[in-house]
Amino acid sequence: VDNRQDFKVADLSLADFGRKEITLAEHEMPGLMSIRKEYAEAQPLAGARVTGSLHMTVQTAVLIETLAALGAEVRWASCNIFSTQDHAAAAIAVGPNGTPDNPQGIPVFAWKGETLEEYWWCTEQALTWPNTPTGGPNMILDDGGDATMLVHNGVQYEKDGKVPSVDTAENDEHRVILELLNRTISGGSQKWTQLASEIRGVTEETTTGVHRLYEMHRDGTLLFPAINVNDAVTKSKFDNKYGCRHSLIDGINRATDVLIGGKTAVVCGYGDVGKGCAESLRGQGARVIITEIDPICALQAAMDGYQVTTLDEVVDKADIFVTTTGNKDIIMAADMAKMKHQAIVGNIGHFDNEIDMAGLAQIPGIVKDEVKPQVHTWTFPDGKVLIVLSEGRLLNLGNATGHPSFVMSNSFADQTLAQIELFTKPEEYPTDVYVLPKHLDEKVARLHLDALGVKLTTLRPEQASYIGVEVDGPYKSDHYRY
Ligand code: NAI
Repeated sequence: VDNRQDFKVADLSLADFGRKEITLAEHEMPGLMSIRKEYAEAQPLAGARVTGSLHMTVQTAVLIETLAALGAEVRWASCNIFSTQDHAAAAIAVGPNGTPDNPQGIPVFAWKGETLEEYWWCTEQALTWPNTPTGGPNMILDDGGDATMLVHNGVQYEKDGKVPSVDTAENDEHRVILELLNRTISGGSQKWTQLASEIRGVTEETTTGVHRLYEMHRDGTLLFPAINVNDAVTKSKFDNKYGCRHSLIDGINRATDVLIGGKTAVVCGYGDVGKGCAESLRGQGARVIITEIDPICALQAAMDGYQVTTLDEVVDKADIFVTTTGNKDIIMAADMAKMKHQAIVGNIGHFDNEIDMAGLAQIPGIVKDEVKPQVHTWTFPDGKVLIVLSEGRLLNLGNATGHPSFVMSNSFADQTLAQIELFTKPEEYPTDVYVLPKHLDEKVARLHLDALGVKLTTLRPEQASYIGVEVDGPYKSDHYRY
């Protein structure tokens, strides 16, 4: 790990490879590239200090350099211990004009295979801005809400006048967070309170992070406005669905190379991510079974032609299990004990609490062995083996390279426009959780049509007035569900 300067990445010599892949990705990200052109002169993010906590991939590199091209200063960490692509991180640290011996890029703190201590240290570095009034950012770009949570916890404990002792930690990760806050908050210091005071807002990438924001808003603890980027139509109905349709099987293939056709695969959850996952497994010829708790999504799955049943019914029959719920305790140790020899278990939801890894490790006599990084076998006392991907963390980013550029161009164009909204119009966004205005959502879709050769029909004025919209949109009411 290289920490010669204000960054920390695995290997700067990977920068050239990273830069080549970034250049290829730029062509596949027309949304971001046309936003760069559109705002090149206006520089709407001049003065913005953006702390990003989002998977440090090639696609994210194009996002980071877009924010910079719009005038922002940026500091970055990944939002998962396994998701960094080391060549992308190196290219960001080196920058387009630097060399590994003379890095001139953007401060990035991320490498593949961080420990939990390292992960939270990286998040802290991304939030720490040398030579600024409050020592912090004035914007956050978050994925899963870890950076936002750290700031909120810091402020809360400073208000309380004390940080809970590490002995009260609920699990390993919580212990690491409490250690960090105990270290940074001492004797009435107001570091986090000061830091939060300058933050104009956060734009949040994913379903799970958005849940956290609405909870804080409901509890009256949200400290600054937030844009829920996830629920832009051009995000959740594309990235979560078509992105996972691509990257789920990519992860399973790279991890195991098992033939998916003919196998029985269980997908837990049939939301946006579940829909994409189910389709990708079916596309490979798997027999796909869905579990759901929501009658609407269960009915959708049934009408899409999937069997819908409980995990209990199929746990001893299926070959591949994927959790997509954003909920906890979906596949428990007792379930895994019933699975077939060499069943594959993986999660694509944001956090690692969908699969009971702690319970699995506690089964008496069980033996864990590493096949290769992020692929482990767990051998039960009777000789049965399970294959667990990415230790229960999101497998598409742990075992493969996440979603491809074109779909991320939509999500990250939403992110960029959301950053511009919150940074340039603070008076229009008092503290609350917002979704991106629909005209911007439609704009992002529009930016991706040419590349696919899509010819859009133009409304005639009489038609527009007949259905009650403007010729230039927005074309749907806010309650329309797509
Ligand atoms: P969603 O809310 O659309 O779907 C989740 C579904 O799981 C819902 O339909 C819900 O009814 C169902 N569910 C909840 N508890 C369940 C249970 N006990 N058993 C069966 N089903 C259950 O959320 P979305 O957008 O599909 O996201 C799911 C997760 O994936 C989130 O954690 C999100 O942050 C994450 N995500 C991961 C991505 C990746 O690249 N790995 C990309 C996008 C989202």
